Amino acid sequence: MGFWQAVSPVFTCCWFIKTEELTFFFSIKTYDFIVIGSGISGLSFALRAAKFGTVAVVTKQEAMTTNTAWAQGGICCVKAKNDSFAEHTADTLGAGAGLCDEEVVSTIVSEGPEAIQELIDWGVKFDSSVDPETGEETLDLGREGGHSKRRILHAKDTTGREIETKLLAEARENDQIEFLEFHFAIDLITTKKLGYASPPRCVGVYALNVKTEKVVTLRSDRVILCTGGSGRVYLYTTNPDVATGDGVAMAWRAGVDIANMEFVQFHPTCLYHHEVKSFLITEAMRGEGAELIDKDGRQFMKEYDERGSLAPRDIVARAIDQEIKKTGGPCVFLDITHQSKEYIADRFPNIYETCLDLGIDISKEPIPVVPAAHYQCGGVATDVNGITSMQGLWAVGEVACTGLHGANRLASNSLLEGAVVSARALEACVKTFPAGDEVELIELPEWESGAVSDVDELVVIYHNWDEIRRLMWDYVSIVRTTKRLQRAATRLHNLQNEVQEFYWNFRVTADLLELRNLVELATLIVDSAARRKESRGAHFTLDYPNSESNLRENTVISKF
Ligand code: SIN
Repeated sequence: MGFWQAVSPVFTCCWFIKTEELTFFFSIKTYDFIVIGSGISGLSFALRAAKFGTVAVVTKQEAMTTNTAWAQGGICCVKAKNDSFAEHTADTLGAGAGLCDEEVVSTIVSEGPEAIQELIDWGVKFDSSVDPETGEETLDLGREGGHSKRRILHAKDTTGREIETKLLAEARENDQIEFLEFHFAIDLITTKKLGYASPPRCVGVYALNVKTEKVVTLRSDRVILCTGGSGRVYLYTTNPDVATGDGVAMAWRAGVDIANMEFVQFHPTCLYHHEVKSFLITEAMRGEGAELIDKDGRQFMKEYDERGSLAPRDIVARAIDQEIKKTGGPCVFLDITHQSKEYIADRFPNIYETCLDLGIDISKEPIPVVPAAHYQCGGVATDVNGITSMQGLWAVGEVACTGLHGANRLASNSLLEGAVVSARALEACVKTFPAGDEVELIELPEWESGAVSDVDELVVIYHNWDEIRRLMWDYVSIVRTTKRLQRAATRLHNLQNEVQEFYWNFRVTADLLELRNLVELATLIVDSAARRKESRGAHFTLDYPNSESNLRENTVISKF
């Protein structure tokens, strides 16, 4: 039984009954900054914060295991002479279907070049070419859906890997940064939970050292959530295993405002293959002329949107879903065979090689693709500085909802958001609580673990995990209905009770903690979707198929 159970009034009885069985693990560590997550947002925050104090980067697996590292297409930035901040802003607002915060969009877009330069200074190399006449080196710019101009900086088709590798190397060299790898953040420690008077403040985090199975107490007045998204809540996703919505779940449990969770973006083109389930086929391929076709070679996208295969993602994903339902086939196809093998192998080496290994020569045959959960447009509600509704807690990147993405994110805007907002969040952080100047030293209790048995019913955890992901896919994916949402809510309620029972009664493990977060996330998505009685951006319901101007507002929810 953990500390939260003890302080929660509901579980006070359990606390007294179990007191004699408690064992203690004394290990409190204090840092100026605690960053949870090690993708672009976490690492770029940590690198900057290290100039002001000590930083812990808490990450549940190896630091390299992030959604950032899986990003293929690239990072947006206005660089071309024929492009402008106004056009990038307009494209972002267009994709966001009326829910973007225009001021946030224009701030992030216009601060893009500076953030990109910082990435380059940290060693990130984007593809570029040298003009044979002038000898001038210019960055190569790709194009993706919803963009009116070429503005995607990339490193072949493994842009995220390039960014992650370089930032990680830089951070590992920094003496002020301590990596706590294989440390699973369990819950935020807040003054409210410790019984102090409001307003609530975040003062640290409990984290499970997955290797030693001990829980450590980490203390700081500046906790920054950079935990990424929650694609794994769905059966089919382009996200890595770690994307289980841990940051949103922790923030929710702590009573922080959460916004727009109904807007789950489905990427139109995930490889359809019986062996490989989460392999993205980058939208940049459509930017280079690849077309979506059905099994007979018919280019169907123009029937849905005049921008064809390069329409924004929500439109393309829904069109594919409709085509699949119409034809009864398992997938559609992406055809890039108009490009030469040399071009494809050079521009998209990762996709070319991966598909070739699976027996698909993409220079000769179309690629089987299906939509899959890709990006969480909502998250912990923040402003453009990552400031959340709770003092001492910031959120940056996919975990956050700044207002940049609205109801549907424009492709390749997310890495940009992480790079820009992490810089702003640090500034806000340092301004609010100068490092070394602790607000009020609060004694933190250690995590207390009951003498509890190991989870011997692992099979139930895996079963629940599968059930959540399947029901979310079947009832809460690209096309929703009120009835399906109700069904999902009922099932999730039962699952939540079962998971809670496990949580209280057994020693915590990484699998159990992920399951606990997944069921929380699924419930937040269903609850938010049920509240939106219209269709907008990534949220489409057959019961309310139109957007309603009087419903054009964020869905903000909070536990307390
Ligand atoms: C892609 O490469 O298609 C993904 C880019 C993104 O999601 O921003």
